[in-house]
Formats: sequence, C-alpha cells, structure tokens
Amino acid sequence: MTMDATRQRLLMCRPTYFAVDYAINPWMDPTAPVDPDLAIRQWEQLHQTYLDLGHEVELIDPVAGLPDMVFAANGGTVIDGKAMAVQFRDPQRADEAPAYRAWFEAAGFEMYDPKHVNEGEGDVLLVGDHLLAGTGFRTAHASHAQLQEVFGYPVVTMQLVDPRFYHLDTALTVLDERTVAYLPEAFSPGSRAVLRRLFPDAIHATMADAEVLGLNAVSDGRHVVLPAQATDLAAKLRDRGYETIGIDLSELRKAGGGPKCCTLRLRQGKAIK
Ligand code: ARG
Repeated sequence: MTMDATRQRLLMCRPTYFAVDYAINPWMDPTAPVDPDLAIRQWEQLHQTYLDLGHEVELIDPVAGLPDMVFAANGGTVIDGKAMAVQFRDPQRADEAPAYRAWFEAAGFEMYDPKHVNEGEGDVLLVGDHLLAGTGFRTAHASHAQLQEVFGYPVVTMQLVDPRFYHLDTALTVLDERTVAYLPEAFSPGSRAVLRRLFPDAIHATMADAEVLGLNAVSDGRHVVLPAQATDLAAKLRDRGYETIGIDLSELRKAGGGPKCCTLRLRQGKAIK
C-alpha cells in the first residue's frame, strides 16, 4: 500500500521565553532544571523537519512572560478557513489567547470566540469527518456543542481520565483520515468503546510510549513525527507502512509538551485555497 502525504500549513512559536515557572499539569516541576538553549535547538530541529517534509510553517511572535506559548496547538482550532480562538483553564496561560487570536485575524481567518474553556487543537482533533473533542481536565464539555455549531462536523466527546494525559493530543494521534493511535487507559470505559467502534483498526499504544509523550505526534498521512523515545510506537507505525521521524524534545517535555503540542494545523477553507 502506498501512503499519500498531504502538504500541511502549520503554525509554530519559537520557545524564546520557554521556562517551567508554574505547574498546571503533572509533568511540570518548577524546581527541576530546564536548559532553555537546548529547548530552542530541539524546537528548531522540529521546525526544520517540517520544512524538509515540504510543509509550510508560519511563525507567531513569542511574547515575553508567556513560557507555554511555544505550545501552538493550544492557540486555536482552525478548520475550513474558520478559526475558533481559545479560553484557557489556567490564568497563567490566559494572555496567550488574544495573541493567537490576533494572529488568526491578521491571517484572514473567519473568527469565532469560545464561550467556555477550550484549549484548541490540544483537545480538538479532526479525523476524517469527525471531530474528536477531549474533556475531563482542560476543555469544558460545554464547548463541544459550540465546536459542532461552528465547524459543522459531528463532535465525539472523549472523556480523559489520567491527569498525565490531560489534553486529547497526549493520549491520541491522528494518523490519517481513517486511522488513529491511542492509549486505551487514558480514556473512560465509554470513550474506549466509542474509539473501538469508530476505529476498529486503531493502533494501541503502550503506557511506556505514552509516558514519553509518544502519542503527541504529527502525521501527514505518510510521515509521522514523534518523540524519539517512543520506540515501540515507532515500530508499530512502521509495521503499518508509515515512515517515522523521531525528534528529541526532552526540554519541552518538562512542561508536558511534545511535537504535536508545538504545532497547530491551519486548514484553509476550500473557497480561499
Ligand atoms: N504546559 C502546557 C500546559 O500544561 C503544556 C501544553 C501542551 N500542549 C498540548 N497540546 N498538549 O498547558
């Protein structure tokens, strides 16, 4: 089987002001050392990897005092030329929302404002013509109805149960329009049943893979960019015909983020393409 790669338009934010100054997820320990220069070099490698794959990468200016702004996936949800801005659960990240919103507006997207806590593509993942939407830790369940109204895709609620996998994109990877990989233990029994029903051929990741944020991966349908440490998952992906590219983001992982967290997909509307 040959797998087609889709050229992607992505948004990233250089980790110029990256730090672990507060703890809003179990990965973050403000007393543990972080190497900011290494964080930047690792991020640059991720950025270069996307360019080498032929993707188009847009950059938003980082803002001093917003150490988590590097996690662009949390900046919004952008589908069919519509951008829904975000509302963070935690006050430490609140000021990122208007910075990303201003970028989307300047880039010409049709803007929608969130009515409830919504952490963007960290919790909202399009698979084919379904929107999978996480809840339990960050994005409010009430926001799922708004997502469906704004984007017009059926929204499937995914109940997250393990605080280490607090965003949907730490527990589930979209590989192509029909295939996902996920950690079953990160989901409630009902959500697991839904995942089995929708994706009978899904790849099940192990806890060892999830614990290195292996599921926080970016796929273009053929190449999967994932944390270098997720070796079991990489082997399973290669068995299915994907080409895997391991990236070491050890410093950003200290904030609870991996490749996907650093990457927001910008999906144009068909009309403006
Ligand atoms: N420190 C950030 C937070 O806890 C990490 C965000 C990771 N982003 C993601 N899409 N999973 O909010």
